[in-house]
Amino acid sequence: MSLIEGEEELIRTSVSEVLHDQEMARENLIPILLQVQEKLNYLPPLAMELIAAALAIPAVDIFGLTTFYNQFRLHPPGKYQLQVCMGTACYMVGGKIALDCFERRLGIGEGETTPDREFSLERVACVGCCTMAPVVVVNEQVEGRVTPTRVDGILIGYGKEIKASTGIAEKKGEEGS
Ligand code: FES
Repeated sequence: MSLIEGEEELIRTSVSEVLHDQEMARENLIPILLQVQEKLNYLPPLAMELIAAALAIPAVDIFGLTTFYNQFRLHPPGKYQLQVCMGTACYMVGGKIALDCFERRLGIGEGETTPDREFSLERVACVGCCTMAPVVVVNEQVEGRVTPTRVDGILIGYGKEIKASTGIAEKKGEEGS
């Protein structure tokens, strides 16, 4: 994921602020990472490299640690954060199908963010709206009964352009070939 304008400076400033308040010891690595993540809303690779250099530990150790623990967020949050419920009630009535549809439409996997940072996608546990299953939460907005046909509608509602190269247009092309 490439950095957006001004982001490198923000990362460098945030890391140095956190490091300034912490003792440079490996035992403080996780608190340092969490504080930097809190400032940036995610942990970009550059931040991990800067922290590794400051603590004189291999960057690969930090990358390994952050992928192991799921409290670390390795992709920036999208402007629209899609949380697809994978609780039992949603899963049983098509939650996974909805997740697959979002992945295909956005061209990203769960836990990732589109390159334009418009959408991020993640799976979550029950959000407490089981009667509306399957459910996706977009920022604070709960969308219920998310069938594959509703996936496009939801994305269009948040400004996503859906190309006509799939669905009906694609089927017509197939018939003609
Ligand atoms: S299982 Fe999805 S809202 Fe409860």
